Amino acid sequence: MRRKLVVANWKMHGNLERNKLLLREVVAGVRGLRNADFAVCVPHPYLFQAQQLLKGTNVAWGAQNVHQSEQGAYTGAVSAWMVADFGCTYAIISHSERRGQFRETNESAAKSMKLAIKAGLTPIYCMGETLDEYEVGVTEAVVASQLDGVLNIVGIKLLSKVVFAYEPVWAIGTGKTATPSQAQAVHEFIRGRVAKHDLEVAANMRILYGGSVKAANAAQLFVMPDIDGGLIGSASLASDEFVAICRAANQAPGSKKRV
Ligand code: PGA
Repeated sequence: MRRKLVVANWKMHGNLERNKLLLREVVAGVRGLRNADFAVCVPHPYLFQAQQLLKGTNVAWGAQNVHQSEQGAYTGAVSAWMVADFGCTYAIISHSERRGQFRETNESAAKSMKLAIKAGLTPIYCMGETLDEYEVGVTEAVVASQLDGVLNIVGIKLLSKVVFAYEPVWAIGTGKTATPSQAQAVHEFIRGRVAKHDLEVAANMRILYGGSVKAANAAQLFVMPDIDGGLIGSASLASDEFVAICRAANQAPGSKKRV
């Protein structure tokens, strides 16, 4: 069985005061839920706060990005080791907002991914097509190139340490969600492509869906056999919404290991 995983992506939101309240409410809301894993990816300056408030709970924490180099003259950048110093479990790699706004590529993603793994983190690697690409029907080709782009550099064995996230860009922050069967089809495609390299890695890898997941649609998404949880943006900023999504994951039937 693959355990469901629900990860909050706060993006550039929060302040010390608000974070404290939100994290406390999340911790209280998911306490005792044992059938799924939960995490919160906060802006870098709040990693210490997340560590203080989340250690010893069933909510892990992570960073939203790590640089593709170990260290050096990269003003404003943060390395995998720096975030690992704050006890992070996860690091999101190449979210579409970083691909779009910071010109990250599959190649830079592969480098960040390798370093994140070396630093002991679990990368959450984001893939997904834009609205234009969706409309011309090239979703699979786009996702395949994003997957192959890192697979060719990182290698299949290391990919066993990665969590994947399929996030159609047209669904992120737009209120439009891929239907459960649309998302399931892409997740199945991703798993099938990895299965051509390694059946076991494919069977065990967790593929999260992201793009306007909320309490109202989470259960329908999480019931799909290849959807192993969610990467949650806007809805993760409201504790009641986020906790309800975590509860939906906790209640979802365990996904069978199938490829
Ligand atoms: P959203 O963001 O839930 O606000 O659509 C998801 C994400 O960007 O990870």
